[in-house]
Amino acid sequence: MIVLFGATGYTGRRVAQAMVRRGLRPTLAGRNVGGLSLLASRLGGLDVVHADVGDTAPVRALIGGRGVLVSTVGPFTRLGEPALRAAIEAGAIYLDSTGEPPFIRRVFEEFGPAAQQTGASLITAFGHDYVPGNLAGALALRDSQAKVHRIEVAYLISGVGREQVISRGTFGSAVGMLTEHSFTWRNGIQLEPTGSRMRILRIGGLEYPAVALGATEHYALPQLAGPAGLPEVDVYFGRCRPATPLVQLGCRVIPALLALPAVRSLVRGIGTVAQRFVAEEPDAAALARVSSQIVATAYDASGAELAQVRLRSGDPYQLTAELLAWGAHRAAEHGVSRPGALGPAAAFGLDALEAGAREAGLRRC
Ligand SMILES: NC(=O)c1ccc[n+]([C@@H]2O[C@H](COP(=O)([O-])OP(=O)(O)OC[C@H]3O[C@@H](n4cnc5c(N)ncnc54)[C@H](OP(=O)(O)O)[C@@H]3O)[C@@H](O)[C@H]2O)c1
Repeated sequence: MIVLFGATGYTGRRVAQAMVRRGLRPTLAGRNVGGLSLLASRLGGLDVVHADVGDTAPVRALIGGRGVLVSTVGPFTRLGEPALRAAIEAGAIYLDSTGEPPFIRRVFEEFGPAAQQTGASLITAFGHDYVPGNLAGALALRDSQAKVHRIEVAYLISGVGREQVISRGTFGSAVGMLTEHSFTWRNGIQLEPTGSRMRILRIGGLEYPAVALGATEHYALPQLAGPAGLPEVDVYFGRCRPATPLVQLGCRVIPALLALPAVRSLVRGIGTVAQRFVAEEPDAAALARVSSQIVATAYDASGAELAQVRLRSGDPYQLTAELLAWGAHRAAEHGVSRPGALGPAAAFGLDALEAGAREAGLRRC
């Protein structure tokens, strides 16, 4: 049994389509029965169930006995907890589309231990954010011949112009993060204000401005490193466009400003108003031109490079939809490794994840 909660949203619809393309027949769950029924009949007559974040009992009833729950109900920091709790109470396998650092932190630190008690498995942020960095980081760890001290993951986005290439839901989630804490890994999770650390990354002889973000790599890669440990993990997001002097200046000024809570609150307020003017869906033609390069680099304690893995994907929403469809399919047919909060490689095994990610459109380059 696979249940897709949030099926009527922009990402949910794309996940539902990707699941049906794989031959799956998920039950579509959400609060808007009319919208669900319309989508279900367009996709060949799927079952639907009415569920709201205020009442997830109908979802919980369906996923008992190791069912799979995929949630795209966001922003997750505000709306994500009920689906997680339903999966934990049912002992189910849970995947979601979040990219929000505070929610990811709660999944690993608060809900993971609860899931271990009930036999549930929680695989959060199983989309463009942050499967590619987990896969590239795990491959870089495997390829390194010496002890790895630090993994740096960079998500470099190309093809973004003036047109809208994110959904209103993603915009809302990003705005919500502004007043929350992000984190990094320094022999343990270390909190930092969102957007307060920017760097110029040097990759392949070019310089890219990028901002540090809390992701699942910070939890999952140290676990993969085993007893040898992994002292440092950083994840950055940036544009795949070499840094101009003005951008370099911005990299120094913006973090200093965003470290001030009053500035972050102001930017969040402006973002909340701006959200009303953002269309529900991205511009399809513009989104088709967007691509990502994900680079994971392993370093030893002296800073010498040990291994580097590069992956490339197209439209990030397409990748998210295909990954969630693959993950749900794989989990329903083969289960996952164990209960608790799991990174992608720990949940599915590195070889299966690499094959699944390739099927979903993530290629090594
Ligand atoms: N990790 C990644 O790479 C990645 C990629 C894509 C999206 N995302 C994230 O996924 C999330 C969804 O994005 P989106 O573009 O699909 O946003 P969206 O179009 O706004 O969809 C949000 C979904 O949540 C549902 N919802 C809202 N309030 C609810 C409630 N009280 N009870 C039940 N359902 C409720 C909505 O239902 P209605 O349809 O009834 O309004 C809709 O189905 C966002 O947080 C976004 O940032 C992440």
